[in-house]
Amino acid sequence: MPTSMVVALDGPAASGKGTLARLISDQYTFAHLDTGTLYRGVAWLVLEAGDDPMDHDVAAAAALDYAVEKIAGADIRTSEVGAAASVVAANAEVRAALLDFQRRFAGCPPNRVGGAVLDGRDIGTVVCPDATVKFFVTASPRVRAHRRWLELAPARPELTEADVYKDLLERDERDAARDNAPMTAADDAELLDTTHLSIDAAFAAARRVIDGVFRRCG
Ligand code: CDP
Repeated sequence: MPTSMVVALDGPAASGKGTLARLISDQYTFAHLDTGTLYRGVAWLVLEAGDDPMDHDVAAAAALDYAVEKIAGADIRTSEVGAAASVVAANAEVRAALLDFQRRFAGCPPNRVGGAVLDGRDIGTVVCPDATVKFFVTASPRVRAHRRWLELAPARPELTEADVYKDLLERDERDAARDNAPMTAADDAELLDTTHLSIDAAFAAARRVIDGVFRRCG
């Protein structure tokens, strides 16, 4: 498998890792994989079939059978799908079924570009432990809840910031406490706290790290 530059971005919901991943992918012309869409996609399929995301076998079957075409046009960004995603993400068989795809994407990025950016919860620890650069992106729970509420409120005016805060804490807890690939910073990850950083400032900080590592890699 050809080796490519891999930038791994992990962190909790609404920490800014997705936006940073998109900016990094544009800046360096790297392919971007938002790995959360895989777990959200599986969760959406389970919910759409009227099944329970806690049902181990049903979720595992949905993951084994997963294809992006199956979720075309689906609204996977809702808080319900996010909550169900963190339930199916604790299922070891679901994670195993989605692992190969993520590793292949990192090793052989589409369109023969020279690198890949993957964002998620376990990229630096499990999916790509040898990533060229790793970040663990955080922000305070209040700031993250405010950001997520601003994103969701236009489509869901009845949603309060307090609801979003509660959902986010529950999801953080489930993601960090699970036995399988829990959300945690890799030992060699750069910590990036975006609580008081604008996107531009966070991106500038990430670029300094990436450029430094790339210079050392030649
Ligand atoms: O966008 P947001 O940060 O809210 O979440 P996401 O990245 O779309 O991920 C949704 C859920 O999928 C997370 O709460 C995790 O439970 C799970 N996930 C995971 O376990 N591992 C990943 N690499 C990515 C997402």
